[in-house]
Amino acid sequence: MKFRHKHLLGIEELSKEEIELILENAVGFKEIFTRTVKKVPTLRGKTVVNLFYEASTRTRTSFELAAKRLSADVINFSVSTSSVQKGESLIDTARTIESMGADFIVMRHPCPGAPHVLSQRIHASMVNAGDGTHEHPTQALLDMFTIKDKKRRFKDLKVAIVGDILHSRVARSNIWALLKLGAKITLVGPRTLVPERFGDLGVRICHNLNEGIKDADVINLLRIQLERQHKNLFPSIREYKLLYGVTEERLQVAKRDVLIMHPGPINRGVEISQEVADGKHSVINEQVTNGVAVRMAVLYLLSGAASS
Ligand code: CP
Repeated sequence: MKFRHKHLLGIEELSKEEIELILENAVGFKEIFTRTVKKVPTLRGKTVVNLFYEASTRTRTSFELAAKRLSADVINFSVSTSSVQKGESLIDTARTIESMGADFIVMRHPCPGAPHVLSQRIHASMVNAGDGTHEHPTQALLDMFTIKDKKRRFKDLKVAIVGDILHSRVARSNIWALLKLGAKITLVGPRTLVPERFGDLGVRICHNLNEGIKDADVINLLRIQLERQHKNLFPSIREYKLLYGVTEERLQVAKRDVLIMHPGPINRGVEISQEVADGKHSVINEQVTNGVAVRMAVLYLLSGAASS
C-alpha cells in the first residue's frame, strides 16, 4: 500500500490502513536499534528542521534521533533565541527555514491548526509535533505501536484514558486512532475536564475512576495541564489526586495484565503513584523507545522513499 500524504497533520486524516502501514514500518525500524550501528542511509541528503514553539523533552529529542538514524541532517531551531523574539511571523520563519533547504519541518505550536496553515504555504513536508489542544499524531502512533506490541490486537480492547481530556491533544489523537482500529474507549475524569460532548465521538464517559478503569486492558494516564487552564476547573491538586490518582490499590479493578501508559511528563504522586509509574504494568519507558521507531517510519513514508 502507498502512503499518499505529504504532511502528517493529524490522525483524523489517516485511514485505518495508513495507521497500520506506519506501525508495520516502525517494526522494521525498531529492529535497527539492536544493531551495533543504529543507522540506515534512507534519508541521506535530506534536512529535518525541528521548530518548537513550546517546551518538549521527548518529542523533540525523539524526532532528532529518528532523523539522525535515517542519516538526515538535523537543525534544532530554538524559538527563544531566534528572530521570533523580534516579531518575525510564523510563516516568515518557516519560509526562511525552507529557503535554507529544509525538506521536513517538525513543528510544535500552541495554536491549534498552525501546522495546517503552514502546510498550505510551504513546499516542505510538515509534521505536527503537537498543536495546542488539537492533535499530537506521533504520540498516538507510538501509543498504538506500544499497545499492539503488548496486546497484539485492538478489536474490542478496553482502553481507559484518564485525566485532563479537555486540554489534551494526546487524548484527541488517541481517540481518533483507537476508534479507527476498533478499540472501546472510556474517558475518565471530573466533569469539568471530561465534558459530556466527547461522548458524541462514540466513546463512553465516566466521572468515577473505579467504574472507568474496571476491566480495562489499557489505562492511559494524562497530566493536568495547568498551563492551558484559564480558570479553576477542580478544587485542588490534592483533591484531584484523591479522586483520580491511580494507585496500586485502585488498579485491582482493572484486568490482571493491564498496561499503564502515560505520554509524559508525569506528575508522580498526582495522576499516578510512584509504585504504579515504576511498577510491572508500566510501559512508559517503552513508549519513549517506540517513539523513535515510529517517527523514523513517519519521516520515511512522508519522504516518498517507500514508493520510489
Ligand atoms: N509526550 C510529549 O509530547 O512529551 P514532550 O512534551 O516532552 O515532548
